[in-house]
Formats: sequence, C-alpha cells, structure tokens
Amino acid sequence: MQDANRSGPIGLHNLSLDFTSRGAAPSPVLRDISLDIPPRSIIGLVGESGSGKSTVALALMGLLAPNARVRGGQIMLRDRKIECSDSAALADLWGHEFAMIFQDPTASLNPVFSIRAHLHEVLRRCDPQANHAERQTRAVAALAAFGFDRPEARVRNHVHELSGGMRQRVVIAMALLARPSLLIADEPTTAQDVNVEAQMCAMKSAVRSC
Ligand SMILES: Nc1ncnc2c1ncn2[C@@H]1O[C@H](COP(=O)(O)OP(=O)(O)OP(=O)(O)O)[C@@H](O)[C@H]1O
Ligand SMILES: [Mg+2]
Repeated sequence: MQDANRSGPIGLHNLSLDFTSRGAAPSPVLRDISLDIPPRSIIGLVGESGSGKSTVALALMGLLAPNARVRGGQIMLRDRKIECSDSAALADLWGHEFAMIFQDPTASLNPVFSIRAHLHEVLRRCDPQANHAERQTRAVAALAAFGFDRPEARVRNHVHELSGGMRQRVVIAMALLARPSLLIADEPTTAQDVNVEAQMCAMKSAVRSC
C-alpha cells in the first residue's frame, strides 16, 4: 500500500536471486521479477507456496538471508534508483519509506521494552522534531485508533501482557506511525484467529488516522 502524501511510483525491476547452500549448486528462486506500484494503490502478490512472494518482500526491505545472492535488480523509489544488492541503502529507507508487517508480531517486538518505548522509538526516528509530550499523545492515539481500551494504561504494558492480536495491532500501529510511502504486509493475519482477522480488516479508519 502506498502513502498518498509522498506520491510517485515505486518500481522493482528485473530482480533475480539465488539461494546458496554449502555443497550444492545455487538454487534460482526469483528470475526477472518486476512490479510497478502506482501512488495510492494497494497491490497483492499471489502465488503458490514457495513461489517466492516473501522473498520479493524481503528483497525490497534489504532483509534477505545471508545465503541469498542477488544477481541483479533495481528499486525505483520515485526518481531514485537503488540496487537490490545494496542492503545498506535499503536499510536507510526502513520506517519512513518502506515498512513491513510480518506474520509473527512477537518477532517484531522486544520483550524488554514497554509498548510506549516501541512507539516512541518509531517517532524519535521518523519525526525527530516531536517532543516527549507529542510522542506520548501520538502513541496513545495510535493505540486508541487500533481499538485498545484504556490506551493510556496499555502503553505501559510489555509484550507478554498482550494477546497475539493486540501484539499484531501494536506492530501495525508502529509501522503506520512512521508514515511509510510503502507498507508491505506478508500475511499479517495468518497467525491470528478469525475474529482478530476480521477486526484488522475493519481497521481502515485507524490506518488513515495514524
Ligand atoms: N534462506 C533461504 N535459503 C534457502 N532457500 C530459501 C531461503 N529462504 C527461502 N528459501 C526458498 O525460496 C523459495 C521461496 O520462498 P518464499 O518464502 O519466498 O515463498 P512464499 O511464496 O512466500 O511461500 P508461502 O506462500 O508459503 O509463504 C522456497 O523454495 C524456499 O524454500
Ligand atoms: Mg511467504
């Protein structure tokens, strides 16, 4: 999904990559994959299990496993061209340009820190001008928008005090607080029950308000 505020197309051009494993020939996983993501659009990547959908997403984020070998491919971010092999340049885009929601929210949250610390960290990185009080207001508002009762109290919780659905809502709120130009969601509701899945699908207004 692309943010309207930073309009301009995002493109992936001719991504090819292999995975290597010791003692075996490299296994080609993606060949000449190209995608165009117009402004204000939502696109879905469909394919059978193992066809490489998550690998495309991870390549866009520069988060490929160490045994991935990028053979070629560029990302066009508006008028900027970035090589898919340049994971450092892609890491610089995390949060404010590209954000990703994974299947398992627990892997995206640090058990040592409160929910407030997670939300404030996003705001510190993506909106450095905001002071502590502004960060707190936006953090609480984001939890409220994502259906948390008593959000002022909830921000003090740690990960183990939240249900799986609540954790995933925190992760989505974190991703949206950064106001990315592209949000990648890799089966974010697969690990949730049907009720939570339905709640998340009904949260379009929360998405707009963050
Ligand atoms: N680090 C890795 N090393 C070796 N092979 C890998 C690695 N990561 C993924 N693969 C292989 O790459 C292929 C594509 O995997 P990927 O996870 O992208 O598929 P997918 O389309 O997302 O599947 P699903 O719908 O099941 O999530 C699979 O054959 C997978 O086994
Ligand atoms: Mg996948």
